[in-house]
Amino acid sequence: PQPLAALRTLSGNTVRFLERGQLDVASTNLKTINELIDRMGRITASLRSFARRGDDQGRASLGKGVDAALQLLGSRMESLPLQLHRDFTDVQVQIDQTRLEQILVNLIGNALDAMQSQPQPTLWLEGEEFDGKYRLRVRDNGHGIDAEARKHLFEPFFTTKPGEQGLGLGLTLSASLAAATGGHLGVEHPASGGTTFVLSLPLVSPTPAEPI
Ligand SMILES: Nc1ncnc2c1ncn2[C@@H]1O[C@H](COP(=O)(O)OP(=O)(O)OP(=O)(O)O)[C@@H](O)[C@H]1O
Ligand SMILES: [Mg+2]
Repeated sequence: PQPLAALRTLSGNTVRFLERGQLDVASTNLKTINELIDRMGRITASLRSFARRGDDQGRASLGKGVDAALQLLGSRMESLPLQLHRDFTDVQVQIDQTRLEQILVNLIGNALDAMQSQPQPTLWLEGEEFDGKYRLRVRDNGHGIDAEARKHLFEPFFTTKPGEQGLGLGLTLSASLAAATGGHLGVEHPASGGTTFVLSLPLVSPTPAEPI
C-alpha cells in the first residue's frame, strides 16, 4: 500500500544483509526495490502528464462539476444511506472542467470511504466567495484523520487503504491540479469529528467593460 515506506524498510534491511555477507537475500531485496521503483516511476509519469503545471486555461461550472462527480460515484453513493447537504453557488471557476471533476471525485470518494461504518453518513458541500476565489468545503462525518496521518496526507503514495484500494495519489494530484490554476487545497479537522477539505479556486472574473 505504501511503496515509499516499503522501499525504506527494504533498503534498510539490505544494508544489514550486505554487512552480514548474506548476498543472496540482499540481491533478492534489490530486485524487489527495482520493481517498486519501476512501479512508482510509471505512476509519477502519468501523474506528471496529467497534472502538467501552469497550462490550465480552462473554465468550469462548479455545479456541473459536482453533479458529474456525484454521478461518477453513483453506485458507491447508493450503498450508503447518505445525507447530502448542498449549499453553494453554481459559479464559474478558472480550471479545466475535467480536472475539477477529478478533484471532486477524489475528495467525495475519500469522504465516502471514511464514512463506511458511520450509521448516519452525512456530506456537506458548502461554498463561499472569498478574496476573488471560491471556497468549497467538502465536509464529512467519517472517522477523521489521526495526528500521525495528518502530517503525511498530501505526500505522494501516502495511503491508509488496504491492498490495491488506494494508491495514495488522490490528494497529491488534487492539490497539484488546484495549484496549477492558482488555487489551493487545504484540510481542517473539525473538533466535532470528521474531516473538511477546503478547495479554493480563482473565480472567472467578469469580462472587463470596453474602455471609453
Ligand atoms: N475525508 C477523509 N477522511 C478520513 N481520512 C481521509 C479523508 N481523505 C483522505 N484521508 C486519508 O488520507 C489518505 C490519502 O488520501 P488520498 O486520496 O491521497 O489517497 P487514497 O484515497 O488512499 O488513494 P487514491 O486516492 O490514490 O485512490 C487516505 O488513505 C486516508 O487515510
Ligand atoms: Mg483518494
